Amino acid sequence: MIYPVTVYGDPILRKRAEDIPADYEGLKELIDNMFETMYVSDGVGLAAPQIGKSLRIFVIDASSAADEEPELDGFKKAFINPVILEKTGDEWIMNEGCLSLPEIREDVSRPETVRIRYVDENFVEHDEVYSGFAARVIQHEYDHLEGILFIDYLSPLKKRILKGKLMAITKGKVRPAYRIKVPGLK
Ligand code: NI
Repeated sequence: MIYPVTVYGDPILRKRAEDIPADYEGLKELIDNMFETMYVSDGVGLAAPQIGKSLRIFVIDASSAADEEPELDGFKKAFINPVILEKTGDEWIMNEGCLSLPEIREDVSRPETVRIRYVDENFVEHDEVYSGFAARVIQHEYDHLEGILFIDYLSPLKKRILKGKLMAITKGKVRPAYRIKVPGLK
């Protein structure tokens, strides 16, 4: 099932998401649906608030970046109830986009490496360290679970410049190629 993607202005994107209980029904379907929604929307990551669910889960498929970082070959994962334990290394800048902010791309500076603890779809716990592109996407998606968007990292001037574009997204005047849920509309 493909969900419409929530966009800027939807209050769910600003809420801290809730942990998923171990007996949560339909977890595998939720994960499948999140991947399906992500692929059809041409994203590399998707967090549950972006499909209207305030739950602590995000999915990532970073295998498209494997030509530059071979270790990303086959990198397709769901991160459930994640906790970023540590961010280390020098900050570096990458031009980021977000399915919830259609037609906006901006340079964002983030630390090189993250250590993250999470459970997988079988509720097996993992404690792993990621760098480079994977760490970038993990930090972006993790932020969604905290109610943070990448535009929050921009300078006040850049934010002011984006104001009109953000308003247009909220009003449903920006129509990306994928299905979105416009705030305030059913
Ligand atoms: Ni995003």
